[in-house]
Amino acid sequence: MANGAGAICSRPVTEPLSGPTGTANPPTSAARDIARLLAGIAAPTAAIPPKWFYDDLGSRLFAAITALPEYYPTRTEAELLRAHLPAITAAAPVVGGTLVDLGAGDCGKAAALFPHLQPRDYVAVDISAEFLAGCLQRLQRLHPQIAMQGVGTDFSERLELPPSVPTGRRTFFYPGSSIGNFTPADAVAFLASVRTHMGDDGALWIGVDLQKPRTVLEPAYDDPLGVTAAFNKNVLTHVNRAAGTDFALADWRHVAFYDSGPGRIEMHLEAVREVRVRWPGGGRSFARGERIHTENSYKHTIPGFREMLQRAGLRTAGHWTDPKGWFAFFVATPDGTA
Ligand SMILES: C[S@@+](CC[C@H](N)C(=O)[O-])C[C@H]1O[C@@H](n2cnc3c(N)ncnc32)[C@H](O)[C@@H]1O
Repeated sequence: MANGAGAICSRPVTEPLSGPTGTANPPTSAARDIARLLAGIAAPTAAIPPKWFYDDLGSRLFAAITALPEYYPTRTEAELLRAHLPAITAAAPVVGGTLVDLGAGDCGKAAALFPHLQPRDYVAVDISAEFLAGCLQRLQRLHPQIAMQGVGTDFSERLELPPSVPTGRRTFFYPGSSIGNFTPADAVAFLASVRTHMGDDGALWIGVDLQKPRTVLEPAYDDPLGVTAAFNKNVLTHVNRAAGTDFALADWRHVAFYDSGPGRIEMHLEAVREVRVRWPGGGRSFARGERIHTENSYKHTIPGFREMLQRAGLRTAGHWTDPKGWFAFFVATPDGTA
């Protein structure tokens, strides 16, 4: 990933939860993942990949962010879906097929659509396996007619699905503009890996955040209540637990800004004083003002994203935007000419 920051590490294992109530097994490649994490912290331009935001508390904090007035993506996407659902489902129907929710979080977005989409199977995929298992358990009680399973996996390099995922028509649902956490090149590679799981009759439903003035973008990632700051700082608690580092949260402050060059929001943690961080077998110092890059969130354009889909072997079957042109929802299907 460009600029090191937000560099996406991979844990190419797929660990199915044992049904909606299951919990993930410890990843076999966890040690390698921790080694990569520590190498990123030790690097001259320190970075922690954004997947480390999502421990149980991180997932809850993200859910709180979506309720903030400044965080327009969730609200705008929900309104878009409400307004255009008949046209979206006509472009790629889900009824009777499998809905695969990528980065499902609390599964709330997909669940709101169940009555309209009527999938036979629902597969929720997320790195935050414990949080996912709890959400799925509750959801299964509400929708006993849908077969549900959770897949606890890290799809940051490529998507792998276990054989338990039905092979019939699959619709991949990737809302919330999480695709923006990938560099454009890595996003194309990820979309191409989704394409390989789609078969010839599958589809991708994907939410994409669009470029807009920084006066709208920056408050969405730096809210006055400090929820996004807590979400960002919580990454250090997760890393302390996972890698044995001794980050003290009070030593760090949340920084978020829009860089119009690459067209992305960057989030960082900045040392408020000189800091020494230690971990088993290592450590490093940070000067006051030195930063750890924790997230990129790329903002796209309609033609630019269409082209990315095309490069991934997908054809845009339709796209919809809100009246302000802040957010887009795309439906893409396999491109026969790819
Ligand atoms: C920005 S949240 C979106 C949640 C929800 N889909 C929504 O739109 O509100 C990103 C979700 O993707 C999950 N996630 C982040 N990185 C991931 C990775 N590398 N592999 C699998 N899931 C990941 C997180 O746990 C989180 O639930």
